[in-house]
Amino acid sequence: MASERRIRIAPSILSADFARLGEQVEEAERAGASCIHIDVMDGQFVPPITFGAVVVEAIRDRVAIPLEIHMMTLQPELHIGQLSDAGANRIIVHAEACPHAHRVVQQIKDAGLEAGLAVNPATPLAATEEVLADLDQLLVMTVNPGYGGQTFIDSMIGKIERARKMIDAQAPDVVLEVDGGVKVDNASSAADAGATLLVAGSAVFSRNQSVAESMAALHRAVETDAAPGAD
Ligand code: DX5
Ligand code: ZN
Repeated sequence: MASERRIRIAPSILSADFARLGEQVEEAERAGASCIHIDVMDGQFVPPITFGAVVVEAIRDRVAIPLEIHMMTLQPELHIGQLSDAGANRIIVHAEACPHAHRVVQQIKDAGLEAGLAVNPATPLAATEEVLADLDQLLVMTVNPGYGGQTFIDSMIGKIERARKMIDAQAPDVVLEVDGGVKVDNASSAADAGATLLVAGSAVFSRNQSVAESMAALHRAVETDAAPGAD
């Protein structure tokens, strides 16, 4: 059974062909991506180092849909100004990296951006509860962050269901997003559990089929309309 809520897809460029990044994000936008999900990693919060504001700026030039920045970094507050200047629309920080999450969330909002808070698989939802009403988005990680192409952790379905209940009860406007291992065969489970924004990296940017084909398959899996430009 697919969810009755409208489900949107956020392609993660982590699995994109970086030599053709501009074309790849344009293809994703044409295929109905809700936003572009950009994974910033600092080599400390997670082992890899990826990219920062200059890449955000380059993508900004190529698409009109929102850019959401998933900050897998320590001290994400140091980068808010640069990312905002580069054209970011939403910054998602990790609860585990922010002892003062309330302050960081306010800093993101003061910069005029939407604020999201992410939790790793092992982190209880309680880590988000006291700031939930201040958030635009809650991100439940369904893999341990750092790499694309990992397997969805099935036990996170229960956590997504609990997150949906918490949001409905306390802050119904907060968007519930999941990230990690989302594929055609499990997207509807995540949606049925209550997620409405699904990050998909390797399921969108694969060598085997076009971005348009991959996005169409994901949209079919959750029976949602592809609506370019919606956030
Ligand atoms: C992982 C990143 C994800 C990643 C998802 O740490 O936060 O956004 O790109 O990739 P897939 O969809 O391949 O699991
Ligand atoms: Zn991510």
